[in-house]
Amino acid sequence: MNKIGIIGAMELEVDTLKAHMSVAGQTSRAGMVFYEGTLEQTPVVVVRCGIGKVNAAMCVQILADLFQVTHVINTGVAGSLNDALDIGDIVVSRDVIHHDMDVSALGYAPGQVPQLDTLAFPGDETLIRLALDSCEEANPGLHTAPGRIVSGDQFISDKAVKEKLIAEFHADCTEMEGAAIAHAAYLNGLPFVVIRALSDKADDSASMEYPAFERQAADHCARLVETLIKKI
Ligand code: ADE
Repeated sequence: MNKIGIIGAMELEVDTLKAHMSVAGQTSRAGMVFYEGTLEQTPVVVVRCGIGKVNAAMCVQILADLFQVTHVINTGVAGSLNDALDIGDIVVSRDVIHHDMDVSALGYAPGQVPQLDTLAFPGDETLIRLALDSCEEANPGLHTAPGRIVSGDQFISDKAVKEKLIAEFHADCTEMEGAAIAHAAYLNGLPFVVIRALSDKADDSASMEYPAFERQAADHCARLVETLIKKI
């Protein structure tokens, strides 16, 4: 029996899902509230993990240990690193990398976690396909693309930093939790996908764009996740 852990970083990112699910119970752990129930008849646990990679990794471990979820979906917003992707568009994680993991002084590639057998954490192929299959139904006319997501404990709002992330990782968008969720899912053998709608362009105007577009971006993501859940 599938049980899907759905993680958002902020209230905005999970409140639509919470409003649409049928909640059977709630449990608090490590400052997070886990809502267990069904969404579109599928067993789910919906949770807001808070901002950043430590919160995100802890959240996955709790979903694995306490709730025995079978899949992890991370939804939310991100800054665009790809000129072909505009605010409101959605990126579905082909793979995810920690952009702020840097042990290059010891010969490791940027992003590589020493002693781990992968640089990029690959999204689950079935979840990626189902997410891409759902996009037209969920958000007609909206551009949804598979891509690389990079994460770090930084809000990127500087063109030079943005250019560096593009040059180093050939990434499509950046956010602050996905790699930790992917990493923790990978260590627990859980299939995952990160689905992020773009709230800003991660450049010098990002701090202005983000508050203006986060609601719209979060809504696009919630619609895609709900449509995808029906297909799992
Ligand atoms: N989430 C949304 N926009 C972001 C940005 N520019 N940097 C990091 N995380 C984000």
